[in-house]
Amino acid sequence: MIVIDDIAYVRSGTADLETAVGFAVDVVGLEEIARVEGTAYLRADHRHHCLAFVEGEPGVLASGFTVRDAGVLAAAEIELERAGCHVERGDAEGARHRRVHDYLAFDDPFGNRVELVCGQTTIARPVRYGRTAGITEFGHLCLDAPDVHEAYAFWSTLFNIRISDWIGDQAALMRFDPVHHKLAVFKGERPGLCHMNFQVESLDDVMRSWHVLQELGVEIEMGPGRHPQSTAVFLYFKGPEGLTYEYSWGVRRIEDDEAWRPRTFDPAEPDAIDLWAGPTRKPSTQLQVPTALAVS
Ligand SMILES: [Fe+2]
Repeated sequence: MIVIDDIAYVRSGTADLETAVGFAVDVVGLEEIARVEGTAYLRADHRHHCLAFVEGEPGVLASGFTVRDAGVLAAAEIELERAGCHVERGDAEGARHRRVHDYLAFDDPFGNRVELVCGQTTIARPVRYGRTAGITEFGHLCLDAPDVHEAYAFWSTLFNIRISDWIGDQAALMRFDPVHHKLAVFKGERPGLCHMNFQVESLDDVMRSWHVLQELGVEIEMGPGRHPQSTAVFLYFKGPEGLTYEYSWGVRRIEDDEAWRPRTFDPAEPDAIDLWAGPTRKPSTQLQVPTALAVS
């Protein structure tokens, strides 16, 4: 079993780097920490970056997860290949580009590019947030797949991933640590990144951002509302090139892993996605850029 320790980053292609970075800094509130040869790195917490914009075709390029060390990475390569995944080991240049010690890449069965990394660079100094949105950390990422049960079968067979809750056949909310979900898969016909989430410090931060975003003319996709599964108060909004961001506060922690029983919510029920029964719709997905596996 491949043990994932954490989420690492999202790599997203952009045809307009200035606009993508401007939104991420001025609206979302991230810090641009570096820009090197057409790649802009944005941070939200101790990670060197949780979002890298790469100049080129718009769309998600990869979603990264952290494993403990090079030994775990090497074992993961064997295990993934045994399971029928084509794995590309990263080279030194690609690792430098990602600010990691080493990494590998593979596609999940639905075409989502996933990268496993070890030795992601940590930055100790406090984040200089672009806007005081109250961000505390990169919270979770959500991928699309046409069958969320098949997606769970893939993740739970190969990885230390457990189901926390189902929203019928629409969503699998999964965990690998006490946080209710750090990986989610939503039903979508094509592979892509449904959204990336940032935790904020307080309920006030969510509500304050709701007003700020509306004043800025940002498209609110859903919320504010409260997910009954994770108990998190959420706000989804759309950035340039269809990249959906989410702020949330108050996510449930599952401290007693063995005692937790996953629940199934009926998406037809008015409060299945929002406990407050507000209007809901699936956030827009930034589609996967279909590229052949490459090492850098
Ligand atoms: Fe989310």
